Amino acid sequence: MRNNIVAGNWKMNNDATQTTELINDLNKALEEVSINCRVLISPTSINLTSAVALTEDSVIEVAAQNMHQAKNGAFTGEISAAMLNDVGVKSVILGHSERRTYFGENDQILTEKVASALENNLEIIFCFGELLQDRKSGNHFKVVESQLKNTVLSLNAASWEHIVLAYEPVWAIGTGETASPEQAQEMHAYIRSLLVSTYGISVAENVSILYGGSVKPTNAKEIFSKEDVDGGLIGGASLKATDFTGIITAF
Ligand code: 13P
Repeated sequence: MRNNIVAGNWKMNNDATQTTELINDLNKALEEVSINCRVLISPTSINLTSAVALTEDSVIEVAAQNMHQAKNGAFTGEISAAMLNDVGVKSVILGHSERRTYFGENDQILTEKVASALENNLEIIFCFGELLQDRKSGNHFKVVESQLKNTVLSLNAASWEHIVLAYEPVWAIGTGETASPEQAQEMHAYIRSLLVSTYGISVAENVSILYGGSVKPTNAKEIFSKEDVDGGLIGGASLKATDFTGIITAF
């Protein structure tokens, strides 16, 4: 079922105390507004357990920022899908451009991560998006198509009940430069057309496609008003309760 979603990717920010404070602030702020979307936050892995406990009676859901593809074993520093399950985390972000750029995650690794997440009944927020040079050279549709064809577009139709897509043009992440609502809509419609041609209209219509890249309370409403934009994956502006609440209430 296609939902509107606002998800906050905290990246490597917020220690244990700050995590508790921000979640308490959000719980309070969200009690006072009307909410017309799913709300997720994604703290660092060391704080996932406390985040799950602090959101037990809240609308907020908790997602991990990453996981390893293997079931278990000699992978120093990593955590598995089963471990996320074990602490009550139900969703995981995979394929973020920072993971691709700084940690060498490629289509092959991401395909394995997606398979492992699905085996463990985790919802996946799958990120992808072109570099500035791709957009400048007019290759952005081709790049996005290949990122999807080499990974999630080979899944069976039933898997799409557990997948949310997040288009994050790399040139818009943390730069203050947002894709225009028209640019976002154009790409999201293209992504949905790929889903239609691969799986048919009923699957395609039920997939939530989020936009990420410098979304703020001031621009969220316009971006979210576009037909194929079903919400946002928010970095910097998810670190302040007032800003994140402002984005959530844009729906
Ligand atoms: P910003 O909102 O800080 O641009 O980050 C977007 C992002 O990377 C979310 O995953």
